[in-house]
Amino acid sequence: MPDVATSTEKADTYTDVRRRIDALLEGPTDWISAMATVACELHHSFDHFDWTGFYRNAGGRQLLVGPYQGPHGCLHIDFDRGVCGAAARTRETQLWPDVSEAPDHIACQSSTQSEVVVPVLTPSDELLAVLDVDSDTLGAFDETDRELLEALCRTLGERFSDAELR
Ligand code: SME
Repeated sequence: MPDVATSTEKADTYTDVRRRIDALLEGPTDWISAMATVACELHHSFDHFDWTGFYRNAGGRQLLVGPYQGPHGCLHIDFDRGVCGAAARTRETQLWPDVSEAPDHIACQSSTQSEVVVPVLTPSDELLAVLDVDSDTLGAFDETDRELLEALCRTLGERFSDAELR
């Protein structure tokens, strides 16, 4: 099991990965390319990110899996279910350092021990997707992850309009 980085080490890594993502996403692109790039960059920047990717708002209060890295993820998740559903429903970050304490956690992989899910909203405040990061390490995520992933998802959401929603 990899050691979880300290908050300072994490913040430094987030600064680096953020710089790379901003450079890679300079210029116009569509949301699939943008989300695939973000998932890839995040996933390979932290040893303890074991599933990193997006669930898209498919309409009808359903999330469908989007670009991700890691073992296979559940294909669809209702807004009423799971940690991802809670993020979609409340439009608030869900931070679970220990998923066994999350009443509604869906174990796509039984090895998952901690999870953070951050909504991605369009400029007119529509839910485009949620970013889900799962770790096989207990206590992998804290307020540093919340703050820096929220900042990343805010910038990502601002690039896209409601036309991206299906
Ligand atoms: N754990 C998530 C489901 C998605 S996957 O684990 C990739 C949840 O409870 O919503």
